[in-house]
Amino acid sequence: MNARILYLDDDAAIVRLVEKALGRSGHTVVHAEHLEAAMQLLADSEFDVIVLDHYLRQMTGHDVLHRLRGEGILLPVVYVTGSSEASIAVEALKAGASDYVIKTVSDDFMPLLASAIEQSVANAQLRLAKARANEEIRLAKERAEALLAEVNHRVANSLALVAGLLRLQIGNSRSAEAKAELTETQARISAIAGMHRSLYTSDDVSRVEMDKYLANLVTEIAGSLKSREKAIPLLLDADTISLTPDRAVSVGMIVTELATNAFKYAYPGDASGEIRIRLKTSDSENTALLTVEDDGIGFSSGAAPRGTGLGSRIVNSMAASLGTGISYPPVDRGTVAEVPINLGT
Ligand SMILES: Nc1ncnc2c1ncn2[C@@H]1O[C@H](COP(=O)(O)OP(=O)(O)O)[C@@H](O)[C@H]1O
Ligand SMILES: [Mg+2]
Repeated sequence: MNARILYLDDDAAIVRLVEKALGRSGHTVVHAEHLEAAMQLLADSEFDVIVLDHYLRQMTGHDVLHRLRGEGILLPVVYVTGSSEASIAVEALKAGASDYVIKTVSDDFMPLLASAIEQSVANAQLRLAKARANEEIRLAKERAEALLAEVNHRVANSLALVAGLLRLQIGNSRSAEAKAELTETQARISAIAGMHRSLYTSDDVSRVEMDKYLANLVTEIAGSLKSREKAIPLLLDADTISLTPDRAVSVGMIVTELATNAFKYAYPGDASGEIRIRLKTSDSENTALLTVEDDGIGFSSGAAPRGTGLGSRIVNSMAASLGTGISYPPVDRGTVAEVPINLGT
């Protein structure tokens, strides 16, 4: 190691001795006789370490230490004191010195000073390297998160474009049946787009806040399905739960299918009523229960579908991917669909 050492001491003779001794180990010693000279040298050139004597003419080394820290100079300081009084050394360490050496007439002084200097420089370099590595990790994480948000933004926009194309096709289609089926497909695509959108608007790029995601989803479903003849309100009550993107999108798809079904089938003709969607954490902390219910005509799950039956297949495969299943508890009126959701860790 070749350290550049700033030696602040008003005793020029001892600094010359130190310079000779440390020069042999490849170190460079620059002498400053007082604080002002030291500050000037620090401003003009680079040093690895400061050696500071306790007894200076105008002030003590303690005063110098406070000045250095006050000026934002963070170089390691090796404190040299002529007195073996422990309180002086302790005070210096408290004020930020990295080590201290007691100035004696014995031969020990030079090797002790050299080792204190080398140790302090090595520690400072390690600290700096660690701080740099941490900063690099922080920046890399920030860049990755920004990139992920950007990707989610683009995916959401591309899916919105696809949904828009479908909307055009629905507008141009002459078949009522085709219109209805394309409308359902459009709702499914919007459910996926919404998941990506909620990822780039959230603070955590790896989790979807389900209450916000479902609120947007429900508004979109209501918008795409609403009929001119009757009002069927979609009511949402969701706890603040966050899920990983793949689980969130599975839940979104299930909600889309069940709400669409309730819209289409629960209230035929002039009948109307509400559709209630709930996502609530249960008492056993680690699960939530998704329920979609209506007060309509109800159905028996064994009966043949009036439509294609595609919705039930989507729901079953999404539930399976969540490691759960859907059940329809018996009710007096309407339909209640329940899907327990494991919240994991
Ligand atoms: N909330 C509900 N109220 C009444 N009937 C329902 C309800 N949900 C589903 N159904 C019945 O279940 C059938 C299967 O639904 P689904 O698998 O989504 O297929 P699709 O929507 O294409 O008909 C529907 O055709 C309908 O008869
Ligand atoms: Mg359906």
